[in-house]
Amino acid sequence: MLHTTKRSLTKLIARTQAKYIVKQGLYKGIDTAAVIEITNQFKDHMYYKYHNMHHAYIRNAERVIRLGLTKSTGMRILDIGCGFGYFMHAASQYGHRTVGLDRGDPFFNAVTPLFGANRVVHQIEAGQPLPNIPGGPFNLITAFATCFDKAGVEGQWGPEQWEFFLQDLTRFMAPNCHLHIKFNQYAGEGTKTGRLCQPVPNDLMDYFHNLGATFVKRGMDIPDIQAALQRTDRNLQTV
Ligand SMILES: C[S@@+](CC[C@H](N)C(=O)[O-])C[C@H]1O[C@@H](n2cnc3c(N)ncnc32)[C@H](O)[C@@H]1O
Repeated sequence: MLHTTKRSLTKLIARTQAKYIVKQGLYKGIDTAAVIEITNQFKDHMYYKYHNMHHAYIRNAERVIRLGLTKSTGMRILDIGCGFGYFMHAASQYGHRTVGLDRGDPFFNAVTPLFGANRVVHQIEAGQPLPNIPGGPFNLITAFATCFDKAGVEGQWGPEQWEFFLQDLTRFMAPNCHLHIKFNQYAGEGTKTGRLCQPVPNDLMDYFHNLGATFVKRGMDIPDIQAALQRTDRNLQTV
């Protein structure tokens, strides 16, 4: 109960701060009229919902606050499934160097340059290595509202696919690299919807807990993911 109240308070504070920094001009460099003009050409697109720029500004401002990026500078950040680039733009305003990765898509191809985002165009597939990603090694790797892991649809990733993906991702990690993932709604055993949601099915929950993950709703943090992967590797070898 106390834990939930503290969490709600943290959220309220982050939301209030987010509104403040947006008002102070976090996105003032963005040509809003141009974004709206392009967006209006993609009304049937599945990500048309991102046209609510004010909502996206606040949500991504909250993300930089909650990851402590307003109180640090000079971090190298990789944002997987970066979408338009809202988060990268916000982080770069605090002196962080960001690179995104997303699949090629006419809507994103048109909008992302307006956010000044560096982006690698690539479609992630289970069991396939990532392409070369310039701009690393990264101190922070993020993925918000993941879709590349096919959450909730056919082919949903399990521990095996995540293990391959994370091991491959170590190629781009700086020492102490922090992994932050905001999962989408999964399907299957153990997963719940709503306020008390369990973010991933039981087998994945065990896999991520073994890596030392902590969760706040669907948000997951693993502070030193490379060390965590090496540790679990060693444990497996000694079994
Ligand atoms: C729900 S959107 C989230 C966008 C952004 N992270 C945000 O929170 O505003 C999911 C993003 O993942 C991207 N995506 C989906 N499947 C992908 C894949 N297989 N490889 C790379 N990106 C993918 C989509 O193009 C989209 O930009």
